[in-house]
Amino acid sequence: SHDPLVVFTPSGKRGRFPRGTPILTAARQLGVDLDSVCGGRGICSKCQITPAYGEFSKHGVTVAPDALSDWNAVEERYDSKRGLKKGRRLGCQATVQGDVVIDVPPESQVHRQVVRKEASARTLIMDPATHFYLVDVAEPDMHEPTGDLERLSRALREQWGIEEITADLPILARLQPLLRKGKWQVTVALHRDHRGGPAKLLELWPGFSEERLFGLAIDLGSTTIAAHLCDLRNGEVKASAGVMNPQIRFGEDLMSRVSYAMMNPGGDKEMTAAVRDAINDLTASISAEAGIEPRQILEAVFVCNPVMHHLLLGFDPVELGQAPFALVTSSSLSLDGRDLGLTAMNDTAQVYILPCIAGHVGADAAAVALAEQPGQSEDLVLIVDVGTNAEIQLGNTTRVLACSSPTGPAFEGAQISAGQRAAPGAIDRIEIDPVTKEPRFRVIGGDLWSDEDGFDAAIATTGITGICGSGIIEAVAEMRMAGLLDPSGLIGSAEQTGTPRCVPEGRTHSYLIHDASAEGGPRIAVTQGDIRAIQLAKSALYAGARLLMDEMGVDKVDRVVLAGAFGAHISPKHAMVLGMIPDAPLDKVTSAGNAAGTGARIALSSISARAEIERMVREIVKVETAIEPRFQEHFVSANAIPHATAPFPELKS
Ligand code: FES
Repeated sequence: SHDPLVVFTPSGKRGRFPRGTPILTAARQLGVDLDSVCGGRGICSKCQITPAYGEFSKHGVTVAPDALSDWNAVEERYDSKRGLKKGRRLGCQATVQGDVVIDVPPESQVHRQVVRKEASARTLIMDPATHFYLVDVAEPDMHEPTGDLERLSRALREQWGIEEITADLPILARLQPLLRKGKWQVTVALHRDHRGGPAKLLELWPGFSEERLFGLAIDLGSTTIAAHLCDLRNGEVKASAGVMNPQIRFGEDLMSRVSYAMMNPGGDKEMTAAVRDAINDLTASISAEAGIEPRQILEAVFVCNPVMHHLLLGFDPVELGQAPFALVTSSSLSLDGRDLGLTAMNDTAQVYILPCIAGHVGADAAAVALAEQPGQSEDLVLIVDVGTNAEIQLGNTTRVLACSSPTGPAFEGAQISAGQRAAPGAIDRIEIDPVTKEPRFRVIGGDLWSDEDGFDAAIATTGITGICGSGIIEAVAEMRMAGLLDPSGLIGSAEQTGTPRCVPEGRTHSYLIHDASAEGGPRIAVTQGDIRAIQLAKSALYAGARLLMDEMGVDKVDRVVLAGAFGAHISPKHAMVLGMIPDAPLDKVTSAGNAAGTGARIALSSISARAEIERMVREIVKVETAIEPRFQEHFVSANAIPHATAPFPELKS
């Protein structure tokens, strides 16, 4: 006499429903995540479910084979035209006839979990901003003089319960022909903002459309621009590409770009135009690579440091060049792509820019926080994104602190005598034998060590051109461990060190790694000046981390995460020997890869993640290194290698 019991897996949600209730209706009433684009018309097949038969002691249900209705004509037609997988039913057509357990497969869930390859801390649950709806619109009528948009609006309200929509000029210009082409049935793409407000009409297609929609997650760095093209339905990366930031011609580092804007009237506009052009070129090439049309790109998410943020948006960055480093706005931004001149995607594409944490700690750091979730960590975690400005976060479930530290470009190979970017030909790994003091090294491109068979052949095309950031870090740390450097960072002479590789250079010494100068090639040595540059950079990095630890009232951290493309290449052991990062068990120092890029993808795939990062950023405590006298103290005492004041017990083990 009871109504039948319906149990959904994997959610476990359950309820009793009268015989004849469609499964989609039961799912809706229980809040079960079951997708639908056609609203139960038997067209889209997004509502597919798998009924389970047998006994389910966990759920206290026995399911008879006739617990669901037989196939109806709509289901038969769908199966004969498109084919339903064995065991699958259309949830909008099958109705409840008896107690039943219904499994919702991942493809039928809007909020499905995405399995990712990256080492990042969090799982990603899809919650896309843009959704499809199939809708039947009333034809215009002489007796009811309303516009096509108003009738589309009314249909969405009646058929989907969507209260209000807005539509901008570009889509309004396409509305009439498309409605008529679809004979008043269209599929629309609507974009919801996580802050609420009306949904925005982005695109429409005649009849039922299964167009795949894409979004771009863009990590706009001062040196490179990296983009992932992602499927907006399941978060999959379709293609990835990167280009150099063309603003380099206005200045290598951020501060020189800020001064370019200060010295040259209209210079900020020039830089804005250059970066937008590069993003358009990148969008076009990544679409071509993936074989998609520009109009299929409906969203973009940007993460960037504060200076790039302002230059992308067309704001003069001059205030970011001087204390107190005021941003135009630190809030997240939701914009129309066309307002940013993004012409290589759909003309209605929506852009989301993550919030900045502070004038020195940008949306890129916010993206790292979104990917790594320091505020969810039981352990006290230190996250270091190494760049020209290191962005540092320290936190656990009690609170999260953030600062930036002016490390300068030495870690990127700049200001180093034989330094270069990490590119083919650069030495990126190095070991020095503690007895013979002889080096062996690896060169990007060949990926073989210098004493391995085939090394010369492997580097025949690239040659050995210089040493990159991770290479110089390893070189300095190895020199210290081999006794070529004293704790103050002074390189010993040939007599003191016992190796002819320590050669005089003016009043100091250099350690010779590779010398092809006799054949007109480069001479790659670590000079005393290089050691000093690295000491300044690592002291700044360490002092920033220490300042956050002081603020937190701790003298050790549980784990360290190295973020950023560069962080991924740093060897934890060498970073610790150098004293770049505070002492921690070596196995607790991990790399998160490009965590900012991962954060951008998360925000692209999920509007609840956008709300989450906005909440997190409000709660992060900003620590300003520039005005903090203890920063100077830590900076000075961190100069030694590892250094003189703080204990490094883990290094001994
Ligand atoms: Fe579209 Fe069932 S909801 S086929």
